[in-house]
Amino acid sequence: MEPKPITKTPACYVEKDSFPQLSGLNHIAYRCRDSEETRHFYEDILNMPLIGIVWHDHVPSTGEYCPYFHLFFEMADGSSIAFFDLFDGKANTPAPDTPRWVNHLALTVESEQALHDAKARLEEHGVEVIGPTTHSSSKSIYFFDPNGIRLELAYMTASRESLLKRADEARDILKKREEIWKGVQQRREEGIYHE
Ligand SMILES: [Fe+2]
Repeated sequence: MEPKPITKTPACYVEKDSFPQLSGLNHIAYRCRDSEETRHFYEDILNMPLIGIVWHDHVPSTGEYCPYFHLFFEMADGSSIAFFDLFDGKANTPAPDTPRWVNHLALTVESEQALHDAKARLEEHGVEVIGPTTHSSSKSIYFFDPNGIRLELAYMTASRESLLKRADEARDILKKREEIWKGVQQRREEGIYHE
């Protein structure tokens, strides 16, 4: 497999020596309600091997007493999704006042076929799947893990050239945020909710 470019960002936006370059995802960590239930989902269904468990009575970074299991499931690029089982059977509480579709973790798949295969496998295991949904730069499916974490699998359909163009456009769009919001309010007042 060809090495991936380490960044999608045009070099002109990167200030040299301003901050150590962040080279990729090491791991993201969530709370899980049950270690074995989570292992089954990530390892048996999503095919992400359990590569390690650490457990402690005290949290190394803060020193506080909070016994836990910490599980890591690995992806093909060496990054991981990790979970903390706090032995209390509690899952990840959705953020109040935030729609359920907002907070999510998107993971890359390498083909459109992989999206369809993933959807079929998830549904075989009784997982409800939305999509594939076509976005401007990807096709994606969406589902929840047993802990209430929303996951997205995305196949990038955009070329590198168009992604670079989007990075340019993003700066202009950001400057227009207030103007865009005013437009939304205007349409709301007029009762216009369709796209
Ligand atoms: Fe997303």
